Amino acid sequence: MAYAAFRSIGAYVPSKILSNEDLSKMVDTTDEWITKRTGIKERHIAAENEFTSDMGTKAAEIAIQRSGIDKSKIDMIICATISPDYFCMPSTATIISTKLGLGNVTAFDISAACTGFVYVLSIAKAFIESGMKKNVLIIGAEKLSSITDYTDRGTCILFGDGAGAALISATDNKTEAIIDVHTGADGTFADLLMTPNGGSGSMHDTLDQEAKSCFMQMKGNETFKVAVKTLTKDVVEILQDNNIDSSEIKHFVPHQANLRIIKAVGDALKLKEEQVVLTVEKYGNTSGASIPMAINDIYESGKLNAGELMLLDAFGGGLTWGSALVPFSPLK
Ligand code: ACO
Repeated sequence: MAYAAFRSIGAYVPSKILSNEDLSKMVDTTDEWITKRTGIKERHIAAENEFTSDMGTKAAEIAIQRSGIDKSKIDMIICATISPDYFCMPSTATIISTKLGLGNVTAFDISAACTGFVYVLSIAKAFIESGMKKNVLIIGAEKLSSITDYTDRGTCILFGDGAGAALISATDNKTEAIIDVHTGADGTFADLLMTPNGGSGSMHDTLDQEAKSCFMQMKGNETFKVAVKTLTKDVVEILQDNNIDSSEIKHFVPHQANLRIIKAVGDALKLKEEQVVLTVEKYGNTSGASIPMAINDIYESGKLNAGELMLLDAFGGGLTWGSALVPFSPLK
């Protein structure tokens, strides 16, 4: 049987920074409020002519180069995004595959909001284990600034842009393999986080009058409560299912939505501070890109070594959630 190994990581962060101070000049908020309630100090914003596919391509180039696998061997590319270059078609994954010069590969996007990277990981794992694909490039890329309402202080303080990518490849060595991935969703909470307009469920004659309804809207406080409960439950389940104690986790990499959510989940799981990866302060919430950007951060700071076990945990619009037990397995 083929197993799926997490070989490499890469990320791209746009250069422009939007600080809390900047936001306090745009909406009625303060650095103190944002820091206290979210832990975010700044977020990065893509240039006007810089698209989700551009950021995804840059992250992917780094992940491919670090993997040591020739790009001609990549046979599938999946992009997790809620801010694609184009809402219907073509998919951002197909655009990235062309920008990378990959030629004929299976390419598609998935929409699972902030859980997107865990979802694409589960798809890559399944395709590899079934023998259908051998080298799958997975990407989380977001230009959330393109769907953020910068007059709504409840959401605009949270979101930023960026991309992360990883190469997942087939191995027959079980010790290298991704151990498990859990994914779930509950559409009864759909209205907590949504972009109400722009799709077939919206009234096209109201589009002009209600341009703002193409932006993200969120019931933040209700989302917060469901997030803490779901993220904790999900991690407890995946650890129990695989007989792994939380002390065996070297890096807990949660979706970076809010420092208070991450702390509440970390405390509930009795994780030590050094186990918990935090990037929310400098990137804000980058939805599907947040987990691979955080993994890239520990990789680039020399903290992620071969064989170390990562626990990924995400939660987002849909509502969706997911977790994964992933050893870092670069090719020697
Ligand atoms: N600055 C100052 N005051 C503010 C701001 C702001 N930026 N935003 C809201 N407030 C005010 C509110 O108006 C409210 O005032 P009131 O008491 O007079 O009515 C007060 O602050 C408290 O508002 P809450 O919404 O209850 O604040 P809360 O502590 O819940 O923090 C936040 C809001 C940061 C949005 C939090 O609820 C949160 O992080 N929610 C979860 C987000 C999340 O995880 N989303 C899922 C992933 S995102 C995705 O999938 C794309």
